[in-house]
Amino acid sequence: MSDRRIQRIIPSMATSDGAGVKLRRSLGSRDDLRLDPFLMLDEFYSDNPDDYLAGFPNHPHRGFETVTYMLDGHMQHQDSGGNTGDLGPGDVQWMTAARGLIHSEMPQQTEGRMRGFQLWLNLPAKDKMQPPAYRDIPAHEIPSANAGPGATVKVIAGEVEAAGVRVAGPAVAGATDARYIDVHLDAGASWETTLPEAHNAFLYVYEGSAHIGTGAEEVPHRAAAVLTQGERLKLVAGAQGARLLLLAGRPIGEPVVQYGPFVMNTRAEIEQAIADYRSGELARYPVKRLNAG
Ligand code: CO
Repeated sequence: MSDRRIQRIIPSMATSDGAGVKLRRSLGSRDDLRLDPFLMLDEFYSDNPDDYLAGFPNHPHRGFETVTYMLDGHMQHQDSGGNTGDLGPGDVQWMTAARGLIHSEMPQQTEGRMRGFQLWLNLPAKDKMQPPAYRDIPAHEIPSANAGPGATVKVIAGEVEAAGVRVAGPAVAGATDARYIDVHLDAGASWETTLPEAHNAFLYVYEGSAHIGTGAEEVPHRAAAVLTQGERLKLVAGAQGARLLLLAGRPIGEPVVQYGPFVMNTRAEIEQAIADYRSGELARYPVKRLNAG
């Protein structure tokens, strides 16, 4: 069985998006820093409401999925299909923008603090123009499994092996078969699992530090570590323990042409997306809500 190792580190950069929300972007901070099928990972965290209350007012998406995972605070959302919702701590929104929608995502504080992640996950050409849909997944529907001494995994999407048991998350990605796992390791604890050998995978350490297997190289705090392909993955926490996201997905292998919130395969498709946004077409599609949450 081949072991996954660190292939490269993508440090996170401080940036802002929406109406000035301060965040850290690792994957996707440049066009050549993606990992098929993953386009972007943002971490937002602040104790200062001025950093985020302006939020992400109405904006479009087409051609991919956005996955929002809250740790602290709230995110109120509203879309052009008339849906509204409020994500609280531990909740996830899995939104398949596909052919498009307009929505707003407005962070709300809880005692000043707001912390969470947004992942952009690409769709293959055959799914880019399907009807938009989303699902709000409350924290209590996300299984938290013992993964050995001092190790806990929360499985948001896909399935993974934890302490000899397969644990399946509530979200099921389509063609990309994405797995999204929040891993908590106590100081010095470790977790070993398997992943489909040809899936691309990366980690993002948001608290503490971790090593991969017996490798000497530490995954830096607030950086994405892109992993080599392989079947087996072993994570070892540093002296302060580690909290990290593990993402794995089947590569799509198609050209990616991105213009802000539109991610298509060709320039002509991007121009069509811009035209559909300007004409109001993007705001007219029904947006299916997959469950009430
Ligand atoms: Co959005």
